[in-house]
Amino acid sequence: MEDSKQKDFIEQFYLDSGFATRALHAGEHVGQPETRSHTNAIFQTSTFYFHDAQEGADIFAGAKSGYVYTRLGNPTVKVLEAKINALEGAAFKLAHPDRTVSSLVFSSGMAAVSAVFLSAASNGDTVLVSDMGYGATEHFCRNVLARMGVKTVEVDMSDLKKVEAALEANPKAKLVYLETPVNPTLKLADIAEISKRARAVNPSMHIVVDNTFATPYLQRPFELGADVILHSTTKYICGHGVVVGGVVTTIDDGMKDSLYQVIKDVGASPSPFDAWLVNLGIKTLPLRMEKHCGNAMAVARHLEQHPKVSRVYYPGLESFPQHALAKKQMSGFGGIVSFELKAGFEAGRKLMDSIKMWTLAVSLGCVDSLIQHPASMTHACMPKEKREKAGLTDGLVRLSVGVEDLDDLIRTLDQGLAQT
Ligand SMILES: Cc1ncc(COP(=O)(O)O)c(C=O)c1O
Repeated sequence: MEDSKQKDFIEQFYLDSGFATRALHAGEHVGQPETRSHTNAIFQTSTFYFHDAQEGADIFAGAKSGYVYTRLGNPTVKVLEAKINALEGAAFKLAHPDRTVSSLVFSSGMAAVSAVFLSAASNGDTVLVSDMGYGATEHFCRNVLARMGVKTVEVDMSDLKKVEAALEANPKAKLVYLETPVNPTLKLADIAEISKRARAVNPSMHIVVDNTFATPYLQRPFELGADVILHSTTKYICGHGVVVGGVVTTIDDGMKDSLYQVIKDVGASPSPFDAWLVNLGIKTLPLRMEKHCGNAMAVARHLEQHPKVSRVYYPGLESFPQHALAKKQMSGFGGIVSFELKAGFEAGRKLMDSIKMWTLAVSLGCVDSLIQHPASMTHACMPKEKREKAGLTDGLVRLSVGVEDLDDLIRTLDQGLAQT
């Protein structure tokens, strides 16, 4: 099959297939019909040869398609881009056949986060950002954006009245940046309502969603009104804790062109081998997410009735203040559970030092379970007053619930809690 025919076949195929089918098949075999390899190859090369000088000039000029240099594009990375397009954008593409869904793969989640801001905002511009989010995102806004002369307005995105007031006060803001569920308090932002209200104020404002915690399996922001979605693929998308990576998917062609320019100029492109590993991980995303969600729900319910625990944060619990919103915009509640111990941070430290099987490590979304302390680890770079104002107390412990047998997760958690 010719390459172009193969590409059409794949695009047709993914649009009307189910999520698990797309996770397995979309993007596979792109650009490698000659070999007929069942799994896609790893093109671990920095550069690509030309047949002659004219061909090199034509490819550089865009008159002929072809790869030139891996920072600018690579066939292994392209497979991953096609697969993420299919997962985040199939419903949008079916509804808008004339529009384009584009994904760009980055060397880390933070490369993806920073590229979005660098693409959308310049000196003198304003961006609206959630008052709680991944620590390095907050740090990037407070330091790099501030030095560039971009004003960051922090908003409690869980409160629509506050969002409305911020939009009215900043109608020229370039983007609204939502992380939902947010790391690590799991607060939610209503993507559909915020998109609607932002567009009413300024139709060209970008709505960006960091979809790392939910994954496209549980939440698809394009269907709710967002136009830019990003992930730290380090987490659930890869799923096995073997890669640091990121991706941005957009339905805005101008944003796509700017992001590509950032990859080219800043050099935030991924290694082909990492892209291959992420693509491999995605094939089991639906299976893993089902198990993560089931285990996390059971762990959250168990902790909620544990005598040593004062508070549990999990969007699937009826006691979670935004449970109704979680049911509205997500098809499952994810694998992250945060909680506080009645005896405070010292008890949390004893738990982390004594617990067996749960690995004391940052990151999340691995197949195996992790435990960590956000205030001294992932969010230590955020000022303490700011953390506390947004609900991240020093006593909060974050669990990334893995896909182990549930009985073992509960037993080891109880054994650890008994030591506190
Ligand atoms: C929600 C969220 N976004 C972005 C990032 C940054 O991703 P990376 O560590 O891959 O650079 C993280 C990392 O933990 C995260 O949790």
